[in-house]
Amino acid sequence: MTANDLAIVILAAGKGTRLKSSLAKVLHRAGGRTLVEHVVRVGAALKAKKTIVVVGHQAEQVAAVVEPLGAETVLQQPQHGTGHAMHVARRALGNAKLVVVLPGDAPLVRAETLKALIAAHRAGNAAATILTAVLADPSGYGRIVRKSGANVSAIVEESQLTEEQRELNEINSSIYCFTLEKLWPALAQVKPNNQHRELYLTDAIAVMAAKGEAVLAQLAADAREALGCNTRADLAEADRTLREWKRDALQNDGVTIQLPETVLVDPEVTAGEDTVIEPCVQLLGKTKIGARCTIRTGSVLSDAILGDEVIVEPHCVLAQSRLDDRVIIGPFARLRAGNHLKAGARIGNFVELKKSTVGEGTKAMHLTYLGDAKIGAKTNIGAGTITCNYDGFHKYPTTIGNKVFIGTNSALVAPVRVGDGAYVAAGSTITDNVPSDGLAIARGRQENKPGWASKKRRELAAAEKPKKPARARKKSKPRRTAKKSRRR
Ligand code: UD1
Ligand code: MG
Repeated sequence: MTANDLAIVILAAGKGTRLKSSLAKVLHRAGGRTLVEHVVRVGAALKAKKTIVVVGHQAEQVAAVVEPLGAETVLQQPQHGTGHAMHVARRALGNAKLVVVLPGDAPLVRAETLKALIAAHRAGNAAATILTAVLADPSGYGRIVRKSGANVSAIVEESQLTEEQRELNEINSSIYCFTLEKLWPALAQVKPNNQHRELYLTDAIAVMAAKGEAVLAQLAADAREALGCNTRADLAEADRTLREWKRDALQNDGVTIQLPETVLVDPEVTAGEDTVIEPCVQLLGKTKIGARCTIRTGSVLSDAILGDEVIVEPHCVLAQSRLDDRVIIGPFARLRAGNHLKAGARIGNFVELKKSTVGEGTKAMHLTYLGDAKIGAKTNIGAGTITCNYDGFHKYPTTIGNKVFIGTNSALVAPVRVGDGAYVAAGSTITDNVPSDGLAIARGRQENKPGWASKKRRELAAAEKPKKPARARKKSKPRRTAKKSRRR
């Protein structure tokens, strides 16, 4: 159900000076997504009438992230503070009565928390409700000055804290629910009374409280939800927490994760029951893993689709490839984009595949490159087989049928076809099509020369025999002394 009186404003125009980066702060990533994408997605769960993102630094790049998610953008140029950002969003808010304000640098807040915030705001008939958290180390955050009970009298920024207020450890998350008809007159009274000459949204709180409006504070269920990412350390903390939550979700779906803190999983990844993920694995992008699979240590899967009972042995790298049921790959296999390995196929160590289809039960176990190849079922690709798919200008296909035997160290110069049931002799360079059930041998014929090696050795020995110099014999020790020394 859409909440017709509710809009969302996401503040995402700031540069993020403390990150020391050429990239705008909200475009930095944590947990596999940009910060601002997390915030837009959590906002979507509120089913608000509209979501407005205030953009400024690298506005086009930020818009390119949020607009496909259904948000609209307004430009704040230059950026004169969080209060100024709200002024900029005013027209786009139209006739909304309530607004949830979210900073674009707080990716950990959860939808349930925001729903509870709105409920508390409505129930308390408040002008403003602030999501707060109690932190052991509140430094850097604005502090909540409580009036009585749930009522707040002010938010004081770190730089303006009195000695007494420094003791306060309840912080402002920058996540608020406002009743707009109360916010605008208060914001109109806010002055840029700070060293940055900015209009602080936080200063509107004291104005409302002084007018006797209800300003409430609602503690977040989990203090981590209030984290705002101002520094690289904050980003690492957000990433750690988001990754932990994602792993927890997979474990709840019946996936075993060994040494979970070493495993990195992107948000859209799924895995089926009884799949085992070993330490130091990365599951990235839109990777989907079936049931009862094993992903062994050190493997990195990006946008890979795996059926059931697939085994990825240690240290494999897979991108944009499909592996059907019971495929086994690796260790040390590399699948570049566009491969399809059909049921029961086996790919071994130091095998690289690109845009190739490998048929059911087909094996390529060692030291092979298969590019632009289409291989049928139950075929054996010998060690060291190379598809020569590139002539320096264009790529060409190699087609290999069912039950084919490609002998070791063969080069298949594409475009070329090997028919069903054919054999290619080891060490061949195949430039012509091989007919079904035929044998192709394409290599220099062997010539044996009996006795050649021993003759050569004799010649070499004769040429290199050292001649003893005549004087050396005279100088040798007397025989008796020599015998004595041997006995010892
Ligand atoms: C802000 C709060 C602080 C709170 C903290 C929580 C103010 C003055 N302070 O501080 O009380 O404890 O968040 O994380 O609000 N932005 C704009 N336009 C601007 C300035 C900022 O869109 O002109 C955006 C930023 O891109 C950012 C968000 O507003 O996403 C918050 O700004 P930031 O500079 O991170 O404020 P903090 O110093 O963290
Ligand atoms: Mg911040």
